[in-house]
Amino acid sequence: MNVIEIRGLSKKFGQFQALKDVNLEVREGEIFGFIGPNGAGKSTTIRVLLGLLKGSSGHATIFNQDVWKQAVPIHQRLAYVPGDVHLWPNLSGGEVIDMFLKIRGAKKDEQRKKEFIERFALDPTKKCRTYSKGNRQKVALVSAFSSDVDLFILDEPTSGLDPLMEQTFQECVLEAKEAGKTILLSSHILSEVEKLCDRIGIIRKGEIIETGTLEGLRHLTRNQMTIETKREVTNLEGLQGVHDVRKDNHAFSFQIDTEHLEDVMAYISSFGLTKLESKPPALEDLFMRHYEDDAQKMKREGRVRG
Ligand SMILES: Nc1ncnc2c1ncn2[C@@H]1O[C@H](COP(=O)(O)OP(=O)(O)OP(=O)(O)O)[C@@H](O)[C@H]1O
Ligand SMILES: [Mg+2]
Repeated sequence: MNVIEIRGLSKKFGQFQALKDVNLEVREGEIFGFIGPNGAGKSTTIRVLLGLLKGSSGHATIFNQDVWKQAVPIHQRLAYVPGDVHLWPNLSGGEVIDMFLKIRGAKKDEQRKKEFIERFALDPTKKCRTYSKGNRQKVALVSAFSSDVDLFILDEPTSGLDPLMEQTFQECVLEAKEAGKTILLSSHILSEVEKLCDRIGIIRKGEIIETGTLEGLRHLTRNQMTIETKREVTNLEGLQGVHDVRKDNHAFSFQIDTEHLEDVMAYISSFGLTKLESKPPALEDLFMRHYEDDAQKMKREGRVRG
């Protein structure tokens, strides 16, 4: 079942077309990664889903309900965390968390709330105006994860979090998934997306240019290697994780799954390694290709040629 469904969604701000015929679905129980360069349309899509903006054309539903017309029942079942959390300056973090929980109609679960406050190392007694950026994010994250909702919509939720808290965040997301929740995660942190997401969608200039399972894209995370050895390597293609072996005089080129790098390198070394070239994983390349605008791409290609 699709929890989120977007069909032919377009959004114009005056003459500017922010979204063009966006089609996207997020299935029940999955973590969906939504990525793309700055200004691509991620937050605009999310704001349409939240009923904060009305699409110019097309249709979007959450839990099979129209996001614009049935926003109230939808919001009782979702938690949203933006990348720039604004809070009521005179309330304490704890008060804000309580308020968010109340708005979502959650039944009071002090124990659960306390657990997340501890995990995110948040001092809930401080006034919100005294919180740093990271601490404001934590208030929103604690209130989201302590809510018993079916859907989490997270728009760059970890901006400003330190690496330890980033890890806590990732654990919380995976636990939510284990509990059968659905998560839409927009992020610029590709390692986070790679680690967490079952499927991803890439948006650029308002258009979805790629959607798929991470497994499907994972074949692109191979390193491209070229090696030369003193004695000819035997049975290279028989090794686990090695693909597309090509021989060119004394050199071998092949692709290798990152996870098998160590074993394969150990094997090859026993033949007397004399040359080794490795290109970075292609998933990053794939993202970069999509992220860069045409001008940047030309510049980079020009530089490579030069
Ligand atoms: N209210 C608005 N009025 C006019 N233009 C807008 C408005 N909101 C967004 N835009 C434009 O729509 C485009 C998409 O913006 P959006 O915030 O969705 O990008 P994003 O993918 O979330 O980027 P980022 O990664 O920087 O958060 C941008 O060019 C932005 O300037
Ligand atoms: Mg955004």
